[in-house]
Parts: sequence; structure tokens; C-alpha cells
Amino acid sequence: MSDSSKVGVILGSGLGWFADTLENRVEKPYSDIPGWPVSTATGHAGKLVTGRLGDTDVIVAAGRAHLYEGYTAHQVAYPIREMMWRGMRTLVVTNASGGINTSYKPGDLVLIADHINLMGVNPLTGPNDESFGPRFPDMSEAYSVEYREIAKQAGSAMGLTLKEGVYAGLAGPSYETPAEIRYLRTIGADLVGMSTVPEVIAANHMGIKVLGISCVTNMAAGILPQKLTHSEVMETGERVKDTLAALLRAVIPQLK
Ligand code: HPA
Repeated sequence: MSDSSKVGVILGSGLGWFADTLENRVEKPYSDIPGWPVSTATGHAGKLVTGRLGDTDVIVAAGRAHLYEGYTAHQVAYPIREMMWRGMRTLVVTNASGGINTSYKPGDLVLIADHINLMGVNPLTGPNDESFGPRFPDMSEAYSVEYREIAKQAGSAMGLTLKEGVYAGLAGPSYETPAEIRYLRTIGADLVGMSTVPEVIAANHMGIKVLGISCVTNMAAGILPQKLTHSEVMETGERVKDTLAALLRAVIPQLK
């Protein structure tokens, strides 16, 4: 295990570019790390990058694996273990999502305030490893209130008003039906996506505080009279990547 303490970052679909902006970069392809699930989704670079952001040591997973690729929840959450062994003390997760809340628009960055696990699985099923955390971990502040405040202030200094929202995590890979989106809105979801939940459960289990930033890449199914496409998701990610990178650069050094 590394003795320097690092801020961990997981970068979602099309958002991997931030890793290339670190100083003193050392990159490792996921395929060189035993146990690490290799992503097959397009837009997921697939490398673990350590480096520095000013005075802060950072460890970035550029690309993630998903349940829809056939990985188990344990495999999807494995990077959290590995990053912790490599010195991670706090975590920033990013993802692409569909906007359910109609006050959002594509390209918005939204702070994840909470999640709803609709994936049907949990990375902590099976025997509990007490060295990671308790059998029944608390999830009442899965996304740190303090980190959200830091992000809001950093955002407003950049002229960005960051809203908050509840993220519903589904297994995918089909996008939702309009009826499913109406259901998700009814149960309190503002955002929908196919990632993040397993990693955030594993991080909370290990007592690691989390900041979640979601990029609304499209409005969710049925909200606009148009079909959803992965290329729209990628294009919006591409459009906001500089803003997201700037936000990450402003926020990460403040995450204690
Ligand atoms: N639904 C689920 N996952 C997503 C979406 C969506 O609309 N957009 C980006 N990831």
C-alpha cells in the first residue's frame, strides 16, 4: 500500500480526459492490475492514473466496468478496494446520466445528493470482511454534505450553479422506457444511470467519504420527443469535459 494519502477519482463515460491533465502522471492499463475489471464500453479509457494536482496526490480510474457488461457487483466495486490499497482516502465519482428532473438540461453538472439502488444487486453480499467495514453499513449520508458544499462554492466561483439530485442506478444496458422514467420520478429520482451505486456502497462500507458529480448527457426517455442514443451521451460528455475538469481541479485539493 502507498503511504501517501490520495484523493481517488472515478471517471465515467466520455469523461476520462481529466486524467490526462495531472502532473507527474504514472499510468497503468487496467489489464495489468490483477482483479481489476476491464471495461468494454466505448468511451471508457481503461487506465489507472496516479499523479498530482498542485500539492494533492490523486489516483484516477479513467473508465469503469458496469453490470451490463456481465460483471458482478463485487467486480464492479473491486477498483474501490484496489484504490484504497493504493492510498485512497476520499473519493470523487463522476458519471453520465439521463435527466429526469425537468429543471435540468443536457450538459448540466449535478451533485449527487443520494441514490436509489435499483440494480437488484449489492457489492457487499456474501461473507463480510470486517477489515473493510461492518456487516450492515450505514448509508444515511452516502454522499458527503460537506463535500457538496465545497463543490457548490467552487462551482459558483467558476460561475456554475450546481444543483443537487437523487441518482437512480439501474443495471441497463437498455435505456429506460418512458413509463419507467415516470415511475422513477414518482419515487424521488432526479437522475438515472447505470453505474456508481456499487462503488459508492463499497466506499461507504470502508468509511470513505464520497463526492458524486453527474453529467446530465440527455433528458431521460419520454421527456423529449426523440430517441436516446449513446452518441448523444458521448457528445454531451465531450462538450462539458473542460468544465468538469476545471471543477475537479478546484474541488479536489479541498477534500480533506
Ligand atoms: N439512462 C440511463 N443511463 C444513462 C442515461 C439514461 O438516460 N444517460 C446516460 N446514462
